[in-house]
Amino acid sequence: MYKAIPITESISWIGANDRETDLFEGLWTLPRGVSYNSYLICDEKVALVDTVKSSYLTDYLQRLRSVLQDCKPVDYLIVNHMEPDHSGSIAVMRQVYPDLKIVGNKKTLEMIRAFYDIQDNLVEVKDGDVLDLGTHKLVFALIPMVHWPETMVTYDTTDKVLFTCDAFGGFGALEGGVFDDEVDMDFYESEILRYFSNIVGRYSPFVQKAIARVRTLDLKVICPSHGPVLRSNPWRVVDLYDRWSRHETEEGCVVVYGSMYGNTKKMTDAIARSLSEAGIRKVAVHDVSRANVSFLVRDIWNFRGLVLGSCTYNTELFPPMAHLTRTLANKAMKGRVLGLCGSYSWSRGALSELLSFAEKGDWELVEPNVEVKSCPTEADLEQCTLLGQHLAQAIRAKS
Ligand code: FEO
Repeated sequence: MYKAIPITESISWIGANDRETDLFEGLWTLPRGVSYNSYLICDEKVALVDTVKSSYLTDYLQRLRSVLQDCKPVDYLIVNHMEPDHSGSIAVMRQVYPDLKIVGNKKTLEMIRAFYDIQDNLVEVKDGDVLDLGTHKLVFALIPMVHWPETMVTYDTTDKVLFTCDAFGGFGALEGGVFDDEVDMDFYESEILRYFSNIVGRYSPFVQKAIARVRTLDLKVICPSHGPVLRSNPWRVVDLYDRWSRHETEEGCVVVYGSMYGNTKKMTDAIARSLSEAGIRKVAVHDVSRANVSFLVRDIWNFRGLVLGSCTYNTELFPPMAHLTRTLANKAMKGRVLGLCGSYSWSRGALSELLSFAEKGDWELVEPNVEVKSCPTEADLEQCTLLGQHLAQAIRAKS
């Protein structure tokens, strides 16, 4: 039987670990799974904070009943965020606990009606409202668009625990350890960045507003709904979120190529070598056909420089590169430098589409733009080397 894991005397982790789903939201690969964290607060009244994806309901109920047994009901279910990885078990939980009151803000309750056709036992709360469980007083703070319009956080003023749902969470199932001091945080911070950059980062101005509110709190523990519980240094991930949402970047460059026969790859390899010779130590090279786009977005969010190199396919940008540029345009990144190169055999297309992508976004385009017919000559590769040198200068100039 699964058991709850205590966080404080009266708060427990009762989540589930998913190592079966291949693609989160049908998009983002999960090489080491993902956790759905839910929390139980036992007081005179009993409250749950969020639920889990519906396919993990059995594990979830086992952990819940390890604390409550069958005789004590749950009074409240607080819904911080409505995406079904957290709300998916609401309808069944109402059957298990018929008097369960669902707590959410106006937008949350609208979504609950639309998603699950639930019309009764709904408790609407506003920003700053307090739910009194007895000893524990829970305060709600709305943080819209981090990353849906109804998102809010719940702060337990008694134990100084903040329940943040997606915010400050990341991919990666929990592998025995549940707390930040029990796990390899280098891995989880990388997965928190992958979650942030792909799912939350587009809404960075809203993240900044949320961080300003979080910084006013006396905080001992952050309980996100994915990834480790942050108790040893909760402010570290808040600071990382702050940096990422300000578009502060590391000195380094991501080089992404789309190549059918290796000619574009020769060009981007020459650029990568030039970056290295110019002293850029962190250069990450990715094949756009093989890397899941979520890892590309993670690295591009993290580093100041980006090189996109693409062959032409049927007079257009190579399809996996077109997917990447469309994805990047949606993320609304700012303050990064960009170098471009392209190749074609019988009809141009790739470089002009990359230039159009650059013009529409907030990128500092570094020249020369290098375009090659069929196979790069020595003169073409010298142009690639020059582009690498100019990129290195531009990356350093933004330090
Ligand atoms: Fe973890 Fe936006 O759902």
